[in-house]
Amino acid sequence: MPVTVSGPPQLRGEITAPGDKSVSHRSAMFNAIAGGSATVTNFSPGADCSSTLDILRALGVEIDREPGQEGLGDMVHINGVGMHGFAEPSVILDAGNSGTTTRLMSGILAGRDIFAILTGDASIRSRPMGRVVAPLRQMGAEIFGRKDNTLAPLVFAGGDLRGMRYEMPVASAQLKSSLLLAGLRADGETRLVQPAQSRDHTERMLNAMGASVTTEGNEVSVTPSELGADDDYVPGDISSAAFWMVAGLVHPNAEIMIRGVGINPTRAGVIDALKMMNADITLENERDAAGEPVADILVRSSDLKGTVIGGEIVPLLIDEIPVLAVAAALAEGETRFEDAEELRVKETDRIAATADWMTAAGVTVETTADTMTVHGAGRLLGGNFNGHHDHRIAMSEGIAGLISESPVTITGAEIASISYPQFWAEIEKLGGAVE
Ligand code: S3P
Repeated sequence: MPVTVSGPPQLRGEITAPGDKSVSHRSAMFNAIAGGSATVTNFSPGADCSSTLDILRALGVEIDREPGQEGLGDMVHINGVGMHGFAEPSVILDAGNSGTTTRLMSGILAGRDIFAILTGDASIRSRPMGRVVAPLRQMGAEIFGRKDNTLAPLVFAGGDLRGMRYEMPVASAQLKSSLLLAGLRADGETRLVQPAQSRDHTERMLNAMGASVTTEGNEVSVTPSELGADDDYVPGDISSAAFWMVAGLVHPNAEIMIRGVGINPTRAGVIDALKMMNADITLENERDAAGEPVADILVRSSDLKGTVIGGEIVPLLIDEIPVLAVAAALAEGETRFEDAEELRVKETDRIAATADWMTAAGVTVETTADTMTVHGAGRLLGGNFNGHHDHRIAMSEGIAGLISESPVTITGAEIASISYPQFWAEIEKLGGAVE
């Protein structure tokens, strides 16, 4: 489905960010292996989190989903089967486009006395899974995959899990979470040494459910634990909110209020990066919602300046780099993204995809294996851009349409529904035209 976006003379309004994708996956998975039943409020409307629910149902977990109250995402009721209660699935488990589903479920399925096959779409089947399979095998799990156990489909065939100390080669929350989840059922302690901090939703939620997860600096450890069901309220997704932050900052006549956004410090690097770029961003009504900090975020038109985004901040804003590149294109001077090699193995190669469409939009972008330098052009040309079958690339192109000199047409725009099905309707709500 192609969508054409053109920008209004002024961009104003209020948006409620949809439920966070990372937190939604975790609340469904962890409550599924907990004892007791729980209700998750404001569940992500994205297709990725529906893939997680479908997989849990195939493993014998009873799940009901119903529309939430006005302005909130769906409510999901989960009857936990306990740590060892899964039924052997009679179908192949399909993670769709979701890396979080594939990697976290790998940790949950490892070393169980059931046989299961886990796969996903063409993107998932080309993304690196050896990073979870190798350490899970080291812990004793019998897991097999294509290309020497590095690619999905993955086969889980039992094994006995032993805890271990493991130096993680990448600062990945998916890898960390996968190993912590296996560690819940392993013999002894599982201790992970991270090269840098990554999002800590797993640690927060497991502790709230009665597990013992300890963090000291960059080391995280877990000992075998049962989980108790926990009603969760899912905060708004900062990764979805980031599109409106950038839109409000780069549009010359804009003021946007984004309500209910999760601002967990291990996720909120985008706010710090935009502030380094001279952004007018105000956090209001800061509060706590079920163990995660939340705020309303007000953004206003700003004269952005180029900056360097690299090192330890990168994992804290990894999913926001495609839209930060739009901010960089409209900023004065050059913005350099460094240490960003993980972008090459996301839903698509996001360095290549961003350079591709931005070059067509008249922006000079230089890339290496792990860097991307965007030369601020102060303007974007419109045109026809490919969504690269990646939700965050397609939505970044949509934001470009709000400020480009002529309309932007995005091919494959429906991919936004992976995390944000209402994205195109929200553009119209703010005054943009969508055809
Ligand atoms: C996620 C972690 C990140 C992120 C992804 C969601 C999570 O991936 O890019 O969209 O929910 O844990 P990595 O852990 O591979 O960096």
